[in-house]
Amino acid sequence: MIDTPSLSTICEAKYRLLGVIHRTPLVTSHSFPLGSHGELRFKAENLQVTGAFKIRGAFNKVAQLAAQANSGVVTASSGNHGQAVAWAARYHHMSAHVVVPLTAPKSKVAAAKAYGATVEYCGTTSQERLDRAQEFAQDRGYQFVPPYDDVSVMSGQGTIGLEIIEDWPEVDMVLVPIGGGGLISGIATAIKSIRPDIAVVGIEAMGAAKAWQSRQQGFRVVLDHTDTIADGIKTLGLGLMTYPIVEKNVDRLLTVSEESIAEAVRWLLTRPKLVVEPSGATTMAAILSYPEMFQDKNVVAVLSGGNLDPEVLSAILSES
Ligand SMILES: Cc1ncc(COP(=O)(O)O)c(C=O)c1O
Repeated sequence: MIDTPSLSTICEAKYRLLGVIHRTPLVTSHSFPLGSHGELRFKAENLQVTGAFKIRGAFNKVAQLAAQANSGVVTASSGNHGQAVAWAARYHHMSAHVVVPLTAPKSKVAAAKAYGATVEYCGTTSQERLDRAQEFAQDRGYQFVPPYDDVSVMSGQGTIGLEIIEDWPEVDMVLVPIGGGGLISGIATAIKSIRPDIAVVGIEAMGAAKAWQSRQQGFRVVLDHTDTIADGIKTLGLGLMTYPIVEKNVDRLLTVSEESIAEAVRWLLTRPKLVVEPSGATTMAAILSYPEMFQDKNVVAVLSGGNLDPEVLSAILSES
């Protein structure tokens, strides 16, 4: 049984997604010079179908489940994965049920409902909603679509890595936010399979630094709690599947402060005119926080999502 993504599972995902999702642009930025030899570009997954990269993994998984049986699908999500599963299920004429935290952003819940899903609130931690979603799957005979710890989900996310290499072969470094680790596991697998010379750098909020702490301790750390404005990456721990992939393929881990995340959201809006949610802006926060690290390098910052409540955006804008 295959229990880790590979270049071939990522290429299969690429063909499942063709004609369904957007090939998002690599947006060039001249507003933040990286020395005389470096350049910064943004992989604009905030412009993706459903407003975040999550549709890549969710669609790749749901398409395969739909080919086997057409009962419903259920998932646990802080929002973006739930929206993506709802969208993919509707595409395949399946029912979807999404378990979200009590703190889920209103706009994400509204979007999942608009795509036809039923939504259930449960607790505040990722573990509470994962347990509830799995219980629902068993009771109702629905298929569970994991948010990150799944080969098909990670392979879908890995298609971002293929697109970056195809669109900018001169890239030196790719910066990726880390929640449960599915996004970076897919991207790092794609990149290291084809171009091991490209550095993959994982970014976490200081208040949710599970990968960073795991690397320090030498084992998979599960935090007691997380505290950050970046709701998509508040996960307590990396997954059992994603942890070893991150350890093997991610060159470096950086943490960013809450202030730098807010500053990055403001900077992205006012300079390249991109609306990016806090989780997606952590990569730009890393560049603002450690500019010397990126001098004279060709850097891609993955902007993983753009779904944020207008009130959150206006609070961030008024902080400056
Ligand atoms: C916008 C955004 N960025 C990054 C992530 C982290 O993805 P992963 O959990 O696969 O690491 C998420 C997860 O929900 C997200 O919504």
